[in-house]
Amino acid sequence: MPESSYQFPDGFLWGTATAAHQVEGGNSNNNWAAWENEAGRIHNGEKSGLACDWRGGRWREDLGNAARDGQNAHRFSIEWSRVQLSPDGWDDSALDFYRELVKGMKALGLQPVATLHHFTDPLWIYEMGGWENDKTPVYFEKFVRKVVKVFKDEVNLWVTLNEPNGLVVNSYVDGCFPPGKKDFRSAFKALTNLIRGHTLAYHTIHELQPNAMAGYALYYRGFFPKREWFPLDRWAARGLQGNVNDLFANAIHNGRVKLILFNTMVKEAIGTQDFVGLQYYSSDEVAFNLLKPGELFSSRQCPHGAPVSPTGFIADVPRGMAQGLSWARQFGLPIYVTENGVEDAEDQMRPAYLLRHLREVWKAANAGWQVKGYFHWSQVDNFEWERGWSQRFGLWALDPATQLRTRRKSADLYAEICKRNGFHPETVQRLAPEVFNELFGA
Ligand code: BGC
Repeated sequence: MPESSYQFPDGFLWGTATAAHQVEGGNSNNNWAAWENEAGRIHNGEKSGLACDWRGGRWREDLGNAARDGQNAHRFSIEWSRVQLSPDGWDDSALDFYRELVKGMKALGLQPVATLHHFTDPLWIYEMGGWENDKTPVYFEKFVRKVVKVFKDEVNLWVTLNEPNGLVVNSYVDGCFPPGKKDFRSAFKALTNLIRGHTLAYHTIHELQPNAMAGYALYYRGFFPKREWFPLDRWAARGLQGNVNDLFANAIHNGRVKLILFNTMVKEAIGTQDFVGLQYYSSDEVAFNLLKPGELFSSRQCPHGAPVSPTGFIADVPRGMAQGLSWARQFGLPIYVTENGVEDAEDQMRPAYLLRHLREVWKAANAGWQVKGYFHWSQVDNFEWERGWSQRFGLWALDPATQLRTRRKSADLYAEICKRNGFHPETVQRLAPEVFNELFGA
């Protein structure tokens, strides 16, 4: 048995991530509740329903498991629609749930990382045009002010927006998220307002809590040219890189908001991040395709030879994680991997996926890059947006009908990793022998 192990730096944060609408249950006042009620929007007409029943108190079980398994942090989100009922109408009692949740996390030894917007908008915001309306960033800032005032002594790491670049693509280009548009002009408008919303939120957080760390979580996808030697494949991959991964990041870097031919400046956005939140799941192989202008002249497919998840949603491509980390490093800030994971109900590919991706994170952290934490998606199966309950990302399985949780083997693996702040040959041999040679072989 080799002696070497993959050891992470002291103080590394190990956690899982969740989002309000996906776990709480009973969220009936947001755009996703409306979307779930429209025919044909969600896989098999499924609904979030009770979700993981966190509102009913079952967060105690899930976070209790997380803490017992050695995690020291948890990323969760606060549901905007519960707190702000109209531009000036508040339900202060809605914050009690989050007070209890945050207190509970701390008692369990989990550092709370709070997300202020994870895909859902209050219905009243949705009805006035969502992020296409110039007033939305202003209303969002009010919500942020309200929340930060309450939690500034408890929460130090704030994620303003979850995957704003992914949100724009899903909502206004692919149309699989509400409002289901396929219109680059709307996408650009929403993108600009999301950048404004983030900027206002960032400044408000610092006004109320000068020492807080604030940033946003970016959806990073690997785009690799299918034929490395072919300039047009490289050009198509670069186009996707620029219009997906760099979409939000550029604005924060230099104030320039650019989506294909649209562009504007939001100067106030420059420098509004204290860390980079990197979310990486999968990559594509990209070939130039003249017939697909709407997809930026590209055909995308699963990278050759990569294992693929049961519904074909995720390919196991760790070099995308390596690329994402190296991309994130350009900003010279601490990096948190705020999401990474795979849908895999039978837990066939998750152990190897987890270890392969963590190896890339380890390489970066041990090369002296400022990689500070890793949050697996997710602790327990939850409602997967337009894919309903068809995909299972949990370390624990959930039967939404009975609310019964069942431990997957990956939970054992992740627990050992968290507890030992790294992974050892003996652990891998026992829990993921399929990847042992790859990680420890000569
Ligand atoms: C989102 C999560 C989602 C996960 C898996 C991420 O893009 O932030 O809300 O559940 O992907 O689909």
